[in-house]
Amino acid sequence: MSNEIFEVVRTVMAIREYDGRPLPDDLARRIVEAGHLTASASNRQPWHFVLVRDPERVRKLGSLIRTGRYTSGAAAAVIVAYEKEFGQYGMSDASRAIQSMILVAWGDGVGSNWTGFGGMEEVRREFGIPDAYDVLAVLPFGYPKRKVIGKKKRKPFKDVVSSERFGQAL
Ligand SMILES: Cc1cc2nc3c(=O)[nH]c(=O)nc-3n(C[C@H](O)[C@H](O)[C@H](O)COP(=O)(O)O)c2cc1C
Repeated sequence: MSNEIFEVVRTVMAIREYDGRPLPDDLARRIVEAGHLTASASNRQPWHFVLVRDPERVRKLGSLIRTGRYTSGAAAAVIVAYEKEFGQYGMSDASRAIQSMILVAWGDGVGSNWTGFGGMEEVRREFGIPDAYDVLAVLPFGYPKRKVIGKKKRKPFKDVVSSERFGQAL
């Protein structure tokens, strides 16, 4: 039995090169709606998503991300921030929203990736995000430059999945 959601999960890859086409407004909006609709612990939604489409601002964004300079070549990007006071809950909630946005984009043929952990404080300041937030990630979005074959490199299934008890094969 086919399952479209599983197909999206199976085929999605980290996309770091984009073909330069702009994203239609409705697709860009749908991506951030996917973040907005995501579940969070106690439904607190301690996040904020900044959609950046101005090409000059997208380039600036890329220049700030140490592990994601290629963001400069994206059609759009979403800055994902969460309220610091929510700690690990905020980070978990925002991570789940990131996955929603990446998968929904991929369902529309739009590639993206998670970039982060270096330069996020600079991103926060440059884009006017209040002190009370931490930036968890920046997600570049764009149509992939090359055809993507969803061949994932993953540890063997049996090494990371058990049945009933750790270490017992499924
Ligand atoms: C939490 C997290 C952080 C990541 N950070 C970066 C990053 O800063 N820069 C980058 O280019 N890719 C980043 N990635 C993408 C991973 O490197 C990539 O998804 C992984 O190597 C598997 O490749 P695949 O998604 O194409 O299967 C990150 C992914 C995750 C889940």
